[in-house]
This record gives sequence, structure tokens and C-alpha cells, in this order.
Amino acid sequence: VSLREYNTFGIDVIARYLVSVHTVSELKKVLGHKEYKNPFIISGGSNMLLTKDIDRLVIHLDFKGMEIVDDSFSEDEVLLRVAGGENWHEFVLYCVSNNLGGVENLSLIPGNVGTSPIQNIGAYGVELKDVFHSCTAIHRESFEEATFYLEDCAFGYRDSVFKNTLKDKYIITSVTFRLTKKNHILHTEYGAIYDTLVDRGIDVPTIKDVSDAVITIRKSKLPDPRKIGNSGSFFKNPIISQKVFTRLRKKFPTVPFYPVAQDTVKVPAGWLIEQAGFKGKRFGDAGVHDKQALVLVNHGNATGEEIWNLAIHIQKTVEDKFGLHIEPEVNVI
Ligand code: EPU
Repeated sequence: VSLREYNTFGIDVIARYLVSVHTVSELKKVLGHKEYKNPFIISGGSNMLLTKDIDRLVIHLDFKGMEIVDDSFSEDEVLLRVAGGENWHEFVLYCVSNNLGGVENLSLIPGNVGTSPIQNIGAYGVELKDVFHSCTAIHRESFEEATFYLEDCAFGYRDSVFKNTLKDKYIITSVTFRLTKKNHILHTEYGAIYDTLVDRGIDVPTIKDVSDAVITIRKSKLPDPRKIGNSGSFFKNPIISQKVFTRLRKKFPTVPFYPVAQDTVKVPAGWLIEQAGFKGKRFGDAGVHDKQALVLVNHGNATGEEIWNLAIHIQKTVEDKFGLHIEPEVNVI
């Protein structure tokens, strides 16, 4: 079976077997088949680069459903439980149209709800952890169901316990969010959102105004995976010490940066890659997006290996020019 339709990069690799599961009990049943060892799990397929055929069973997670589990969690908040297979942006639109606040800045992020905690997705000043209450998951070997609360997840910048000590141990089946139903605090301080709202003459924005602004910004910079294969940001923005940054800035005075902690700053990898001359470049069907250099794209029939070779080439060039190491954000399989 081709997995082309199952990954947003649109990479055409072959899975030996593929099964979609719609309920947790179906998932447990499939995991219980001992002849299919070590199955490969795929959900929205939006954060992976497949570089070779998968000679095992692929389980496609397709759980659906959303329900308010507590509508008076606090005076201002509700808890909404969302099945892992729900499309992230459709969930955001549901919240926006029901006046539930918290995820509007995360509009139009590709992928499914179930994978959002793994890398603590984030954009425009908000991260998943800011609205996360808990998630449920199935252990891959014992099939036991577990609940992870905020404090269990060790969320960091594009990071969580599910990428570290619990890597490949659990399959996330649902996520419960803390969303505001009144007295929303909107995050509009991110430059591009602020500018968009000002351009539109909006002084007192609503949840929908913020979501619309984010959608406009993302559409102007990020390629639509249905039209041109991609996985969003391919690399993470490197976090470096103040000391390293001072040296860098001496040589490259225009380098943009965001303070992270007292002694560390984050440098946009998109800037490093653009300065290294890659923006809009194309090597066969593997390329770098022309409006956002952090995004690698598949112009049609690139193989995962071609994209990966380009990524390595970029990584090396950036390292030679700036002395900084940039790490992939996507999972390279
Ligand atoms: N920049 C360039 N050239 C480029 C791209 C960026 O010079 O081609 C510089 C500019 O100075 C720009 C700065 O980088 O001001 C930051 O760019 P942008 O606001 O687009 O954000 P980013 O750091 O490139 C991060 C996230 C995005 C998220 C945006 C907005 C990571 C790895 N990426 O990108 O997340 O949408 O901030 O908050 O942290 C994703 O993870 O897939 C993703 C798209």
C-alpha cells in the first residue's frame, strides 16, 4: 500500500500492510496480533519524513469525536476531550465557532490532535502546553491505558516526555484541553498578529479575529500541504548561550533573535538558512520554500532520501557559515 496520502510531505513509500483503527478497542486488538511485530503508527503524518518502505504493519489512527467533559472546570474554563484522530485545524475551528478560547493562535497547523502533545506544537506566542489538561494513551506492549497530566509531560520547546523517556512507548488516543468560555485572554503581542489586526482596524479583537489573522499570516508564508508537500518547519530554531550569541552577532550584526532565558537566546533557523543561500532553491523535486526558508518542500515526486540529503546539505552549510548546529524538528524515519 502506498503511504503517499498518509504523510503531508507526499512521499511515496510502500507499507507492507496498512490498517486504520477507529476505536481504542480496535487498536488494542490490532496491537495484540503477535505476528505483526513492532507496528509503525501513523496519524496525521504531518511531522515525519519517510525515507524508506516500511516492511511491517502500519496502523493508521483514525479515532474521532469531541466532547465537553467538564463545563465548569473553573469559573471561566471548560474541559474539552478530543479524540486523537481529529484534524487539528478542524478542532480549532470548532473552538472558534463555539467561542472557546485558547487555541486560536494555533490555527491552520497541519496534523491531528493526538500528535500535538508529542512535540508541544506552537505558533505565534502560544504552545500546546498552555491549553493542555491531560491526554490518554495506550501502552504499546501491555495495552494498558494511562492518563498523563500536564506535570507528567515535561513540555519544552517542541519537546515532551513522549520524545524522550517515553519515546515509542505509548500511543496517544485523546487529548483534553482547558479552554476559556469567558474572560478570554488573547495573545496578540506577536508582531505579525498585531500588525494584521491594526491593518484591519480591529481594536478589540475576538477569538475569531485572532484566528483569522493567524490563518492569513500562515497562508502568506507556509505552503498548503495539499498542494505542495511539506512538514511545516523542518528544523528547530537553535537555542544558544549569550556568549555564543555575542560572538555570532559581532560577525553578523543583523541576526534576529528572541531571548529565551537569562543566559540563552533563540535564533531563527529560517534566517540562517536564507543567509546560507537556500531560500527558494530547488534540487530536482526537493526544495526550500520561497517564502519561508525553514520549510522544505516536495515539488512533486521527491523521495524522502532526496529531501533528507537536502536537509543534511543545509545543516552542513549553516554549520560552516555560522558555527551553529540546526536539528530537524520532523521525525526522520
Ligand atoms: N526568517 C528569515 N527568513 C526566512 C524565514 C524566517 O529571515 O525565510 C527570520 C525572520 O527574521 C523572521 C524570523 O525568522 O522574523 C521568524 O520567522 P517566523 O515568524 O516565520 O517564525 P519561525 O521562527 O521561522 C516558528 C515556528 C513555526 C511557527 C512560527 C510562528 C519553529 C521551528 N517554527 O517559525 O512553527 O508557526 O514560529 O510562531 O519554532 C512548525 O513548527 O511547523 C511551524 C511552522
